[in-house]
Parts: sequence; structure tokens; C-alpha cells
Amino acid sequence: MNKTLSVFGLEGKVAVVSGAAAGIGEACARAFAQAGAAVMLSDIDVAACERIAAELNEQGFEAKAIRLDVTSEADWQALTVVLQDWKNRWDVLLNNAGIYIGGLLENNSSAQVSKINQVNIESVFLGTRTAVECMKPNAMFGHGGSIINLSSIAGLVGVPGHSIYGATKGAVRSLTKHSAVEFAKFGYGVRVNSLHPGLIETAMGDQALQDFVDIGVVPNVDEAATLLKSAMIPMGRLGNVQDIANAALFLASDASSYVTGVELTVDGGFCAA
Ligand SMILES: NC(=O)c1ccc[n+]([C@@H]2O[C@H](COP(=O)([O-])OP(=O)(O)OC[C@H]3O[C@@H](n4cnc5c(N)ncnc54)[C@H](O)[C@@H]3O)[C@@H](O)[C@H]2O)c1
Repeated sequence: MNKTLSVFGLEGKVAVVSGAAAGIGEACARAFAQAGAAVMLSDIDVAACERIAAELNEQGFEAKAIRLDVTSEADWQALTVVLQDWKNRWDVLLNNAGIYIGGLLENNSSAQVSKINQVNIESVFLGTRTAVECMKPNAMFGHGGSIINLSSIAGLVGVPGHSIYGATKGAVRSLTKHSAVEFAKFGYGVRVNSLHPGLIETAMGDQALQDFVDIGVVPNVDEAATLLKSAMIPMGRLGNVQDIANAALFLASDASSYVTGVELTVDGGFCAA
């Protein structure tokens, strides 16, 4: 195999993807498996993960499904037991599961804030703590690893209707940087980086477009997409799940072995404009 290319591969590695039943998580799980990793697909929708894992296994890749609610400490603990039985190894965690709650800030409720904080931030804390406890030297697995956190461009810049969602994604960005520095300083061999997608064509991406209509920025979703593509995204198109999977693959692989604490925007130039 070409040595320059193999550093981007995940042969011999074990990867866990949260929110792997659909959208970005599914695409990343497929990309990791195709790059050679044994992939644990996790989601509250375990039936979809089982279907995707079966498909990957039929194609000659290696995958397994597990039900994991990212807000449950017990589920994260149970995951480590299953990993121990399955591969006795853990190299990559993609903290991807998340929800979107939009609306004008003046209409958002405390209950919505609590809910989105729990699913989008507390989950990343729980996943990161579980992974580092397993990956650091002399721990259960002890090989070091790469943790990738799904933030958003809404964690970097202001967007109408995105206040409470964006606040969670800003927190994910910050948690990434602090944990990256801490783990590097303590010699854990665990890198932590955040990915910041622009608007990506998934169920959540559709929800965000609809929210621009609901708060009165544009009359319909087609105009929302047109406005983004023509006036806000220099590359002139929305993102797709493969755009994010490719970036996640880089951060998961040894090609990024000197990269930690980075916020990688994958947004067609949105934040640079
Ligand atoms: N789509 C976008 O435009 C976009 C942009 C920037 C960032 N992101 C981020 O990327 C990530 C994935 O987004 P997506 O567009 O693929 O979303 P999606 O809604 O298409 O898929 C999210 C997945 O997460 C799962 N999930 C939700 N709550 C969960 C929980 N408590 N435990 C486990 N799984 C749970 C869902 O079942 C679903 O399979 C999210 O963190 C999102 O905030 C998305």
C-alpha cells in the first residue's frame, strides 16, 4: 500500500460513533469502516444502527451496533464493557449525537435550554470522560486516541434563531480546547478536536432551514437555501454528509497526529467571508 495514503487509514483501530443512525454520524461511521476501523455504531435508534452495521459487515467491513443514549452515564459505562468483550480496544470517539432547537430567543423556554444542554453538551462531557478514562496510559485500553466533537459554525458566529443551539455548540468548542490541552499536558496521548459544519443536508439541516421560515427571515425553505448559497456561502452550495465524514476521517487518523485543540470549519468558506 502507498505509505503516504496509509497514514489516513484506520486499519487496526476501533471507533465509536454516537448518533450513528442517520445523517452525519451514519456517514462518518461508514467512512471509518471503509478506512479499516472496526466501528461501534451507537444511537437511541438502535434498529437503524443494526441495519447499517449489518450492511457494512456484508460488504466486508467490521461494525457492531449498540443502544446508547448519550445523556446516560450508565449507557456510556455499558459501552466500555461491550468494547472490552468485542475488541478490547478503543482508539476513536466521534461525539456526534445532537439535537437542534431553534426559535427566537425571546420565545425559548428554560425547559428547552435544559434539554439542549443535556443532549448537546453534557453528552460530550460524559463521552469524553468515559473515553479518556479508557484510553489514557495504564487504563482499560491504554493506547491513547482521538476524540472528535461535533460543534457547528453556530458555535463560532451568530445566526438568527440559533441562540440556544449555538450556545451549546460554543460550549462544545470550549470543552474541546480545555480537554485537549489538559490531556496533552498530562501525557495521555489523547487528542481532542472540534468539527464545525456549515448547513449540511440532513434532517437537522432541513429543520434549521425551516426555522429561518418560522422566525420570519424568509418566506419558504427554498428561499432560505438560495439566500445561504448565493449570499453567505462563498463556495455556493450547502454541505453534504461526505464533506464532514472526510474531515472526521482526517482527525480520526494518524494523519492528524500533531493536531489537537483545533476547531476545523467545514463550511464552504462561510466563516472566512
Ligand atoms: N446538519 C447540519 O446542518 C449540522 C450543522 C452543524 C453541526 N451539526 C451537528 O452535527 C451532528 C449531527 O447532526 P445531523 O445533521 O446528522 O443530525 P440528525 O438529526 O440527522 O441525526 C442526529 C442523530 O443523533 C441521534 N440522537 C439524538 N439524540 C440522541 C441521544 N440522546 N443519544 C443518542 N443519539 C441521539 C438521532 O437519533 C439521530 O440519529 C449534531 O451534533 C449537529 O448539531 C449539524
